[in-house]
Amino acid sequence: MRTNFEPEFSPKMKVKSQAAKSMEESRIAQPIGIALDRFIKINQDQFAYASGELSQLLRDIALASKVVNREVNKAGLIDIMGQAGSINSGGDAQQKLDVLANIRFTRALTKGGEACALISEETESYVDLSNDGKYVIAIDPLDGSSNIDVNVSIGTIFSIYRRKSPVGQPISDADILQKGSEQVAAGYILYGSSTMLVYTTGHGVNGFTYDPTLGEYFLSHADMRIPEDGKIYSINEGSYNSFAQPVKDYVSYCKDQQYTGRYIGSLIADFHRNLLKGGIYIYPATAKDPNGKLRLMYECNALAFVAEQAGGKATNGKISVLDIKPKTLHERTPFFVGSKNMVTKAESF
Ligand code: AHG
Ligand code: MN
Ligand code: MN
Repeated sequence: MRTNFEPEFSPKMKVKSQAAKSMEESRIAQPIGIALDRFIKINQDQFAYASGELSQLLRDIALASKVVNREVNKAGLIDIMGQAGSINSGGDAQQKLDVLANIRFTRALTKGGEACALISEETESYVDLSNDGKYVIAIDPLDGSSNIDVNVSIGTIFSIYRRKSPVGQPISDADILQKGSEQVAAGYILYGSSTMLVYTTGHGVNGFTYDPTLGEYFLSHADMRIPEDGKIYSINEGSYNSFAQPVKDYVSYCKDQQYTGRYIGSLIADFHRNLLKGGIYIYPATAKDPNGKLRLMYECNALAFVAEQAGGKATNGKISVLDIKPKTLHERTPFFVGSKNMVTKAESF
């Protein structure tokens, strides 16, 4: 059976332009429509440690995302909506889908055997997966949970690090508290009007769209580049009164420029739109959250890596997000991410 995504007959089929090709030799032109599995296999030698384990890890994540996608899609049909009645590490009420997504990803990564430890928004300390795996994973299993009940896009965010301690030794802080610049792969799944997996292994960013009839992801957005400039700003202006003056000034600047304000309230959905269209996403320090609300290890780092690989930029207002050395698993950071020139402009305030 063929799909719209398959290369041979797809009217959308195209390979990257000559200009894109010459941008970086390591970026290999890929036909739109290639299946994720085949894409991973073809590009396996791009990985820093081309042993095949990272490829398998990406497949495990893709598989877990399909299960979560199924749960997300039936959320309105069965009694899995609403709060689970428990509180997570950040003090938020956990949604049932948060819990479910966490279980699905933990299970897939444990069974896969490539990851030795899992950092998750939904667990207080990291989970030792009792594997001899060479990788450490950080995930936000369900991002945008307040949007579940109102049928608005949500997502999953993941970061993959190479384990530092030798296999067989106990896992240490050095394995867990790594800087974003040490990520070997990162990405997200957006459960939106269609479901997409977007990821990078440090050789550009590629986006795959899920075909639910075939249960497979197909390359739909090859070598994604975020426009250097944009006209969209995304910030929760409800907290405006408690922004620092420079952030207030930048918001005023955006209004003076007649930029468009767009804020979904699901980081992944806001980020993804800005990645495609050009824009800036800001979650600054506020009175309620003096370090910002977003979590460095399983929200900001992955998106900072994706943004930079797509030609964009991510800072905490002072330094690159990827250069922040985490002190704790659940630490928060102010976050400015998106089109390079917009983020640079915001920094100048
Ligand atoms: P999560 O659902 O994983 O807790 O994340 C929610 C985050 C993020 O997705 C979103 O951008 C932000 O919270 C929205 O916060 P505000 O409602 O304070 O704007
Ligand atoms: Mn989140
Ligand atoms: Mn979450």
